Amino acid sequence: MRKPLIAGNWKMNGTKDGITDLVTILVAGEVNNVDMLVIPPFVYLEQVGRELGESGIRLGAQNVDWRAQGALTGEIEASMLKEVGCELCLTGHSERRQLFAETDDQVACKFKACLEHDVTPILCVGETLQQRQAGQTMEVVLRQVRSVMEAVGPAGIGQGIVAYEPVWAIGTGESASPEQAEEVHGNIRQAIARDGPATAEKLRILYGGSVNSENAAELFRMEDIDGALVGGASLIGKEFLTICELAARGMEN
Ligand code: PGA
Repeated sequence: MRKPLIAGNWKMNGTKDGITDLVTILVAGEVNNVDMLVIPPFVYLEQVGRELGESGIRLGAQNVDWRAQGALTGEIEASMLKEVGCELCLTGHSERRQLFAETDDQVACKFKACLEHDVTPILCVGETLQQRQAGQTMEVVLRQVRSVMEAVGPAGIGQGIVAYEPVWAIGTGESASPEQAEEVHGNIRQAIARDGPATAEKLRILYGGSVNSENAAELFRMEDIDGALVGGASLIGKEFLTICELAARGMEN
């Protein structure tokens, strides 16, 4: 049985005070039987780490550079993330791929760098609407997964987490249907199983794209959906906690 993970990607949102309020709500309502993760902007990592205190809620980062520290203005190395208490880090989020032109190779380097510094990478993959309409969903998603697998091997992928996030569902209010998501999750697991069956069985594959308290339960009922990467809804404390509760409840059924 894979323990669900609910990750809140705060993206470029928040103020010091607003974040304190949000973290206070999350800590007070911490949910058992599910791993909870918050992913604030870099500049708030230490504050959030402090405010999470002794709670079991974990801290993650939105991005990382793969090179060793040095003359790279504006970049952050994985060892720095580790030092400020980040246990996990997103890699290859579609906003990074699309708006900052990140390539599959760069994403693979980031994933590898996280592993080398004992930070758990979350590999985000997903197709655009155009690619889905052209029937290229599996080709695109599996190319993104394979590029990382070639860099770190199936065992390396198994030390991380995968998040399937169809680009057309991110921030649009239009989630993939549970069946659409399950089809892709199942295919990702099968593709990894060809090289690493034990890894594939244990690997957590999250769904992301307009997850909220209304649609989460039906997504979590799917065999290969092991949690969610939540954007907009993670900025509302009560909403995020409800999604966590639905994931925990899904485990009981
Ligand atoms: P959304 O974002 O929940 O606002 O669609 C998800 C994400 O980008 O991780």
